[in-house]
Amino acid sequence: MSFIKAEKIKYRYPVMEDVDAFSGEEKEKDKQQEEPKPEEDAIKDISLEIQAGQFICILGMNGSGKSTFAKHLNALLLPTEGTLWVDGIDTNEDEQVWDIRKSVGMVFQNPDNQIIGSVVDEDVAFGLENLGIPSEQIQESVSRSLEEVGMKDFAKYSPNKLSGGQKQRVAVAGILAMEPKCIVLDESTAMLDPRGRDEVMDTVLRLNKEKGITVIAITHYMEEALDADYIFVMKKGELFMQGTPKEIFSQDEKIEEAGLTLPQLCQLAKALREKGMNIPKDVITADELREAIKNQ
Ligand SMILES: Nc1ncnc2c1ncn2[C@@H]1O[C@H](COP(=O)(O)OP(=O)(O)OP(=O)(O)O)[C@@H](O)[C@H]1O
Ligand SMILES: [Mg+2]
Repeated sequence: MSFIKAEKIKYRYPVMEDVDAFSGEEKEKDKQQEEPKPEEDAIKDISLEIQAGQFICILGMNGSGKSTFAKHLNALLLPTEGTLWVDGIDTNEDEQVWDIRKSVGMVFQNPDNQIIGSVVDEDVAFGLENLGIPSEQIQESVSRSLEEVGMKDFAKYSPNKLSGGQKQRVAVAGILAMEPKCIVLDESTAMLDPRGRDEVMDTVLRLNKEKGITVIAITHYMEEALDADYIFVMKKGELFMQGTPKEIFSQDEKIEEAGLTLPQLCQLAKALREKGMNIPKDVITADELREAIKNQ
């Protein structure tokens, strides 16, 4: 059984045009305008499957529907049409929402919006406290989670003394404390410097490899997608491409059509190919490129 299964899901954001944006009061309806304005679906007929333990990247240009799709994965949004199963549970089943939220944790873009506690360990404990878990158990679980993201020495720090990358790792620890099966990162490295980006990506990659946690990372950094087991590319709300990094990045024209650029190494390989060198299209690592150049 797949961990995530989407069957023709569509999502359309509710239209708020009858409500005044400032006062929140209902506007008087214009009797002449009975025709409803056709609105676009933010995601359209998405069908896909993700297996437990996979490291998945979702790519796509601004507004292509990545975040809308991601919010379906822990039932923050429910499909307008179609069905989404998370670990076998249909996200439309109200009673199971908390099970889904516990098993799929989300890390968002802005590190400053996600930390609630005034001390790191209190912040990590927050979710468990809400579940009414005994305090000894909480302490144990908080220190284990902080250790797993390499932040144990910062347990008593104030979060505002941390770098962006460290804050994101604390956010990951807060999710880990809940013993999730899956972590979804919605551009969680976008506001970080290169070092912070590496810290966060290395941490989640390790959790994926060592603990078998399914990781679904939305990113604008093509380099991050090179490590993925499988990539989904979205375009205008639709699933435009899917495949392994080699399958995806060997299709340079389609990547361009999706509004994306190739990872730098693939750009270099492409430039050499255009100069007449015989470099296979599926070269995506420095070793492969070195080998291809040696074989000229
Ligand atoms: N809260 C909202 N209300 C109405 N429309 C929305 C809302 N959020 C997103 N949309 C629209 O849905 C579509 C998909 O947006 P979404 O945020 O999912 O894209 P994205 O791929 O995550 O983009 P980005 O890379 O900029 O984060 C866009 O057309 C967007 O304008
Ligand atoms: Mg987004």
